[in-house]
Amino acid sequence: MKVAILGGSGKTGRAVGAALAQAGVATRPLGRAAFDDLPAALAGADAVHVIAPNLHPDEPAYVAAVLTAATEVGVGRVSYHSVASPYVPAMPHHLGKAVSEDLVRRSGLAWTILQPCAYLQNLLPALRSARSSAAGGLEVPYAVDTPFGMVDLHDVAAATAAVLTGEGHVGATYELGGPALVSVADVAAAAGVTARRVPADGDVHPWLRAMFDYYDDHGLPTGGVPLRALLGRLPTSVAEVLARDLG
Ligand SMILES: NC(=O)c1ccc[n+]([C@@H]2O[C@H](COP(=O)([O-])OP(=O)(O)OC[C@H]3O[C@@H](n4cnc5c(N)ncnc54)[C@H](OP(=O)(O)O)[C@@H]3O)[C@@H](O)[C@H]2O)c1
Repeated sequence: MKVAILGGSGKTGRAVGAALAQAGVATRPLGRAAFDDLPAALAGADAVHVIAPNLHPDEPAYVAAVLTAATEVGVGRVSYHSVASPYVPAMPHHLGKAVSEDLVRRSGLAWTILQPCAYLQNLLPALRSARSSAAGGLEVPYAVDTPFGMVDLHDVAAATAAVLTGEGHVGATYELGGPALVSVADVAAAAGVTARRVPADGDVHPWLRAMFDYYDDHGLPTGGVPLRALLGRLPTSVAEVLARDLG
């Protein structure tokens, strides 16, 4: 089996590629140059996993181009890396994924959609500097006490490999949250530091500002049962991720 991974050279794509390789699958990581000739980039693959770059200005157009090319060259299987709670009109980049999900479902291809929550790995650089600074605090530009289903990126990648190599996942949409709802303050405490909300940088992307506003009020709660089922084990806990990746 050979899987082409759009966005395969990015943070998520590298993790997915590693998980597929571990499952014995040949991978073809693709970056932006693949868009020069998408049919040629996808030809000969058995499946394509579609990851859009962060904050792509037109994710539905990106996804539509891949779906069209996959159809043209006969790649019949597609999985799409969406996000938890894609249909949130207050968050434009989530809404772009909701629209893209609709394109995937109507593509005529054999599809699966994955909806991961925020990765725990997003917090690691700030946790490292919080630990090494005298002040010792984790600073984020949104509320530190709202609930998230924060998830280990490597669990998300392993679930993606399970979906593409296993049976019974065509036509499925899986919300991928970690093993428990946690706040940023909980994650900071597990790393031995405190957390506090700070104002966002003045030049932050407006879509990120909208996301921070949403996180302030609601966090991003996400269920953990589908991930546990796909992995066939408990998803990796916050403490385990910190012990493995933070040192
Ligand atoms: N971070 C999270 O917690 C989280 C949670 C859920 C979902 N997600 C979603 O996961 C996705 C991937 O995130 P990520 O951080 O892994 O992304 P990323 O590292 O920014 O992705 C970079 C990848 O996208 C390609 N790329 C960049 N600009 C492009 C363009 N204009 N046209 C085509 N390809 C382009 C890059 O190719 P080159 O190597 O050629 O530059 C590279 O392969 C995003 O859609 C994000 O919303 C993230």
